[in-house]
Amino acid sequence: MAFSIHRGLLVLVNAAHPLESAEKPVLAPALPGSEALLDARAAAMLTGLVSRLGAVGEIVAVSGWRSMDEQRRIWDSSMLENGADFTRRYVARPGCSEHQTGLAVDLALRAEHIDFIRPEFPHEGVCGRFRALAADYGFIERYQAGKEGVTGIAAEPWHFRYVGRPHARLMLERGLCLEEYHELLRTFHYPGRLLEARGEAYEAEVGFLRGTERPELPDAPCQLSGNNVDGYVCTLWRRPA
Ligand code: DAL
Ligand code: ZN
Repeated sequence: MAFSIHRGLLVLVNAAHPLESAEKPVLAPALPGSEALLDARAAAMLTGLVSRLGAVGEIVAVSGWRSMDEQRRIWDSSMLENGADFTRRYVARPGCSEHQTGLAVDLALRAEHIDFIRPEFPHEGVCGRFRALAADYGFIERYQAGKEGVTGIAAEPWHFRYVGRPHARLMLERGLCLEEYHELLRTFHYPGRLLEARGEAYEAEVGFLRGTERPELPDAPCQLSGNNVDGYVCTLWRRPA
């Protein structure tokens, strides 16, 4: 499959950078028995985390992958029901939602009534335990309070985005949202200057490769993702010493 800056686990999708790839991701139920679907890699990690917490059936996936048509329906119906101000704060414009990548999931605590646009995912209890482990499973809380000016979206404590390891932890440790993380990565160019990442079970280095053409691949175990803007993020894995 050809490389593209518009594909990969780290694509930045927001109002300034619409999803360019029309390719439908390989999808799987977000959680066992869930109707919401996710990119199969994200679904496997989400299922691993929720199972580890013994919370299958207690934490539920309200919304996962959305087609362009579905995002348009959500946008249009929210405009009618909630008005323009609310909708611009809580719903991404059709074409600009990271739900369309299959890498974003809205989670809720099981309840009789769950709000589809703003589900309850508290900071306490099992949801708090989920948050504490999310980065280890590659998930970030994508729209945090205080970052509205950067993301263009209101705080959404229920919306998690899969970016994979080690990126989720690097972002968490530095308090960066995805827009800011990509800015930081632009200052780390492969192969000269790389960002180091150390977890309990892994060591990695992360760098940026500019360009929209087929990149020069490093001669090492690596993972490439487009940033959906101007290049690739390259993650190189090292054997822990
Ligand atoms: N609620 C998020 C911003 C979306 O619609 O993608
Ligand atoms: Zn969401």
